[in-house]
Amino acid sequence: MNTGAMKILLAVSSRHGSTEEIGHVIAERLRAAGHDVDQARPEDVVDVTPYGAFVLGSAVYMTHWTNEAVAFTERFRDALRAHPVWAFSVGLAGLPKGKVSDPHRIGPVLLSIDPEDHVTFPGTFDPSRLSLRERSIATLGGATEGDFRDLDAVREWADAIAGTLSSGI
Ligand SMILES: Cc1cc2nc3c(=O)[nH]c(=O)nc-3n(C[C@H](O)[C@H](O)[C@H](O)COP(=O)(O)O)c2cc1C
Repeated sequence: MNTGAMKILLAVSSRHGSTEEIGHVIAERLRAAGHDVDQARPEDVVDVTPYGAFVLGSAVYMTHWTNEAVAFTERFRDALRAHPVWAFSVGLAGLPKGKVSDPHRIGPVLLSIDPEDHVTFPGTFDPSRLSLRERSIATLGGATEGDFRDLDAVREWADAIAGTLSSGI
């Protein structure tokens, strides 16, 4: 189908910034590989017709993607199903034991858009950036304070996407 540079929409939903920063790293790598990338919050996207591929990411709260990310998949389902889509989640499930598990409630959303790949990257837990309610929920869920992001793993994932798109998917 397509070869060479691709216009990509990177739609990233973040409440407190850690997922958005992961999005910036992905954008940087895709651009370094010669692709044309627009990064936006899913709720701000009104038209997806210019894009030949999508990278969609969301922070995970209470085992779900954000409402904005889910609404995006519903609004643009046909376009998403017609083009290559890569998805990532950012969460703390499983930490601090070391392994982040795929938050199972995301499954139906991903099935509906049939992505090429979905990965879960570890996020952050910074109580000072949260409301008392969020802090209590995260603490009850066993979260440990810290920034667990592995930006090398993010870069590697983005490079794999760039390579697939450059070689023509
Ligand atoms: C109230 C609350 C609920 C959370 N629920 C989950 C969860 O169900 N699964 C998970 O993997 N991470 C969960 N997390 C961790 C967040 O996904 C993590 O802090 C992430 O880095 C937040 O991304 P953001 O800074 O882009 O909003 C929760 C965090 C908070 C504060």
